[in-house]
Amino acid sequence: MKALILAGGAGTRLRPITYTRAKQLVPVANTPILFYGIEAMVAAGITDIGVIIGDTGDEVREAVGDGSRFGATITYIPQEAPLGLAHCVLIARDFLGDEDFVMYLGDNLLEQDLAAFVEAFEEARAGDDPPVAQILLKQVPDPHRFGIAALDEHGNVVSLVEKPADPPSDLALVGVYLFDKTIHEAVRAIRPSARGELEITDAIQWLIDTGHRVRTELLTGWWIDTGKLTPLLEANRLLLEKLETRVEGSVDDRSTLDGRVVVEAGAEIVNSRVRGPVAIAAGTRIVDSFIGPFTAIGAHCEILNSEIEHSVVMERSIVQDIPRLEDSLIGRDAVVRRSQQRPRALRLMVGDHCQIDVE
Ligand code: TTP
Repeated sequence: MKALILAGGAGTRLRPITYTRAKQLVPVANTPILFYGIEAMVAAGITDIGVIIGDTGDEVREAVGDGSRFGATITYIPQEAPLGLAHCVLIARDFLGDEDFVMYLGDNLLEQDLAAFVEAFEEARAGDDPPVAQILLKQVPDPHRFGIAALDEHGNVVSLVEKPADPPSDLALVGVYLFDKTIHEAVRAIRPSARGELEITDAIQWLIDTGHRVRTELLTGWWIDTGKLTPLLEANRLLLEKLETRVEGSVDDRSTLDGRVVVEAGAEIVNSRVRGPVAIAAGTRIVDSFIGPFTAIGAHCEILNSEIEHSVVMERSIVQDIPRLEDSLIGRDAVVRRSQQRPRALRLMVGDHCQIDVE
């Protein structure tokens, strides 16, 4: 079994961060989202991994390398433009050969490991009525926002509908799919959708319509598509929940750490209070500040005389004299600062698509 991880795409819903960074490399709990997907594959015993890359491919290559640090072998497959999830299968034909494979959306995060789902597919493939594909489904409270599956009484897929006004079920398609080689025929047979993409849902529907069996598995743990700010912070929260205390940096005697806190080597906490779960990466200084629950601060940042909670701050950024920062995503090399006197005017340098709420 091989794996195909999708790490191209445009990432429009996470602008401006994605103007300068692959969305799959945005950190949650101080680890790039994509790394969790690669680790999940390796944990399921799949080490031959193809990674689809787009405009941000160089950065992905640099971060992931040849895969040896994960115990995997990575083959990069450049995609000329984000032409759809089924297009990714089309261009990965040579890499995939005729093997079964897992396709995984590189910006998705799952709580459960994948081994049981992979085994269930392999077992079903060895049975009497072998499926050609398996999709993972998750019950959601708001099905009109997702790709939704209608099932028959045996749990096989009858149809898939994208963001239905009148949902046939509350079972959303999670970004993990298992396929056999029949999918290659499907992605060649379908045409681009109204939005100009080769849709994987159309390819799966083609499998069903041509008489093939598509089985399903239900996910019970959480699943997050991190493509937007709110789910990204939610993923950060859920992963920090699993944090175990580790203090390798320095904490002075005027500081307190409560709850589960990671302070990496070379980080420094001075006259501050940190209430976990919080992760503070290497080389970061926290001075005269409060860091509240569900915050991850990347490497070589400075948090000075500020309060931060439920936020992600990426590498080398400075937050200074900010009375309270919440629910925020701060990019790399950013400076967020307040002048000591109450300003009569705001002085801003704001990039395209930024959002600043001043109260
Ligand atoms: P999406 O989130 O569906 O698309 P996107 O990355 O273009 O984001 P946005 O809608 O905000 O513009 O993509 C799911 C995953 O698949 C994500 O990791 C990007 C990847 N992808 C590709 O690699 N190639 C593609 O052609 C598409 C559409 C997505």
